[in-house]
This record gives sequence, C-alpha cells and structure tokens, in this order.
Amino acid sequence: MKLTVVGGGSTYTPELVDGFARLRDTLPVGELVLVDPAQDRLELVGGLSRRIFARQGHPGRITTTTDLDAAVDGADAVLLQLRVGGQAARQQDETWPLECGCVGQETTGAGGLAKALRTVPVVLDIAERVRRANPHAWIIDFTNPVGIVTRALLRAGHKAVGLCNVAIGLQRKFAALLSLEPSGLHLDHVGLNHLTWETGVRLGGPEGEDVLPRLLADHGDTIAADLRLPRPLLDRLGVVPSYYLRYFYAHDEVVRELRTKPSRAAEVADMERRLLAMYADPALDEKPDLLARRGGAYYSEAAVDLAAALLGGGGTPYQVVNTYNDGTLPFLPDDAVVEVQAAVGTKGAAPLPVHPVDPLYAGLMAGVTAYEDLALEAALHGGRNRVFRALLSHPLIGQYGYAETLTDRLIAHNREHLAWA
Ligand code: G6P
Ligand code: MN
Repeated sequence: MKLTVVGGGSTYTPELVDGFARLRDTLPVGELVLVDPAQDRLELVGGLSRRIFARQGHPGRITTTTDLDAAVDGADAVLLQLRVGGQAARQQDETWPLECGCVGQETTGAGGLAKALRTVPVVLDIAERVRRANPHAWIIDFTNPVGIVTRALLRAGHKAVGLCNVAIGLQRKFAALLSLEPSGLHLDHVGLNHLTWETGVRLGGPEGEDVLPRLLADHGDTIAADLRLPRPLLDRLGVVPSYYLRYFYAHDEVVRELRTKPSRAAEVADMERRLLAMYADPALDEKPDLLARRGGAYYSEAAVDLAAALLGGGGTPYQVVNTYNDGTLPFLPDDAVVEVQAAVGTKGAAPLPVHPVDPLYAGLMAGVTAYEDLALEAALHGGRNRVFRALLSHPLIGQYGYAETLTDRLIAHNREHLAWA
C-alpha cells in the first residue's frame, strides 16, 4: 500500500508516522511518500520519520520529494495537510480581524475565510493531479478549513473525505474521565467542522446507553475548564460543544483575550523552530513530547482508522468524518458538508441517522453553512463582492461596516495568494 502525504514537511508529520508505526496491523503502509515544496524541512522530517519506523521495526519505506506528480503516482490514498503561506499567513489571519473587534482565528470568522481563499485553489489543483495519476485514489483532507475544502473537493467530483481530530480527542478525554476504553464510547457528534456538539455519549455503539448526563454531572467542572466555557452553560445546554464554540459563546471575551497575548501562530512558529532543531538530531527516533503541545493530538489515529476503512483493511465501524449532508440534517442543503458519525468503507462515508437537532444548534449550523457556501463561491471565483457577501453572512460578523472593512483588510493582507486580487 502506498500513501502520500502532501505537506509532508510539516512538523506534525512525525505524529502521523508514529501512528502508522504503532497501528501497522490496521494499516500496513508499504511505502510512505512525504511531498513538500520545502526541501530543507523534508530532509529533517523525513530523517526522523525513517528513524521512527526503524525503531519500531516497521518494514515500510519512507521517501521524500518536492515533485507532486511523482509523489502521487500509484498512491492508494493521499493525505492533504498543507498550509498555504505557512504560519506567517496564519499570523495575519489571527491579527487583522481583531482590529475590527472580530475574533482572529485560523478557521473561524474572517481569518478562516482568508485561509479558505488561499487554500481552495491550491487543493483543487493538487486533487486534479491526484485524479490524473490514479482516479481510484482516496483523498483524506486535514487541510483547514476542512468543511469548505471538503465541499470544494466533493463538488469537483473527487473521492474525498474530510477529517478533524476534535471528535477523537473528546472521545479519548471522556473515556479517560469514565475509566473506559475509548473504543467503547460512541459520540453522538453533530454539526459542521469546528462547529460541533456532542449530544450523546453512548456505551458500546450508536444504540448504547447515553451516559452524557452522568458525565456532565460527575465531570462537568473538568470538561468546562478544558473548553474554557462556564460550567453553568454546559449544565444549561446538557450537551458538550467543541472548544471552537467558545469563539461564538464567548466571542467578545475571546477578542479581549487575544488582543493581550501573542498569537497562536507566533507560539506555533516558535515551537516549530524548536521541533525542527530536535528533528535534526540523528539520535532522536521518536516523536518529541513538545509535539503534544500542538492541537493535533490523536490525528494520526483518526487518519489510520479512516484510511484503513477506505482502503478496505478494517478500521472502526463508525467514524466521525466530513462528507455530504445528503439529508442527514434535514434543515441543511444536501450538498452541505457536515461533520457526523458515518459508516466508512471502500465506497466512502455514509452518515448515520442523527437524532433531531435542537434549534439552538440547528440555527447556528444553518447560518455557518450559508457562510461556507458563500466562502466557497468567493474562493472559486474571487472578486471583492463575493468576499464581502461571505463576511456579511458570517454569524460572527453580520454588520455592513465590519464586513466592508474586513473585506479590504483580507484582500490587502492576502494579495500575493489571490490570483484575482
Ligand atoms: C485542532 C484542530 C485542527 C487545527 C489544530 C491547530 O487540532 O482540529 O484543525 O489545525 O487544532 O493546532 P495548532 O497547534 O496548530 O494551534
Ligand atoms: Mn480540525
């Protein structure tokens, strides 16, 4: 089995490689290709990746290249984990929206739109080249904003599934709190990427007993502290929102906070420098602890599981993925991309039925779905007015004055990445 990682020079890659090494019975990777335009990073990351395989006795071969077409040739699955413009572009996304009193975040709000505009054309070009090389290859997209990018891929007819680690992270956390094995917990996970709620936590599977009320009663303080949301909010909702909902439920508080501290991009850039220095050490043959301070915990496990299911090797029966709604959430268009539990197999992901959704969450999902639709229009066709429409539609923006100013800032800060600007 040949797997290609686009953005393989990412400092995150050792997390993925460690997962491939540990979980090789689930996903027997014969050849792993890391492709990236940054040759220097590739060498450091590729070197450590080979040492991780060697230490864990993995027989697979790891190669590195800057040539995308060669990298995807013959691949059974292609993982996309790229970041157009790197942390420098993210730093911008996290900064200029704050000047207008809006949250500065890499996937939520105006910053997320900027990222979508930079990313969608690049990802579509890569996907086209994957399809040309091997029309049967699966594309697994981690590239943010995952909802919009996956929608772009599916609309263009690609064999793609979007993936995020929020659900698997919560599953691990809840299992630890309940002293259970993670595989024994099934989350009723519903929403859009980075806009999700856990509305049930079930023992054993989708029909199992719902222990969410007990989880909240016994561990509500821990969960609230983790999400940095007030405990009374969780009690009132009776569900667990993802930490991305803090950007909505505590928007102004987050803006005040973000204005007083260095951006996450700056923090991550600093960590990346330290990580790359560590990777250069030929004695290092495992992922360093510092990597755990990145947000991508468990993403390797989710990726192995998904790739195994798509390629026919197994994987857990139900997985949280991003795919077409197709009636799963009746209040959203069929061609919206939702993040829900799905049965995954070689034909792709088929969402499981979802319990009726409280209007409290359905309303926000519908609003953000409309924004994602307009964001994709802007990413595909460009133009100031399309950017403005997407910003005006966003539930966190909504006001004419803000949308005008943010449109100008977005374009000014991203000109080099926008072909039409
Ligand atoms: C979570 C999200 C990812 C995001 C990451 C950011 O894992 O699900 O989509 O990329 O956080 O982590 P970072 O360490 O880059 O802030
Ligand atoms: Mn994510």
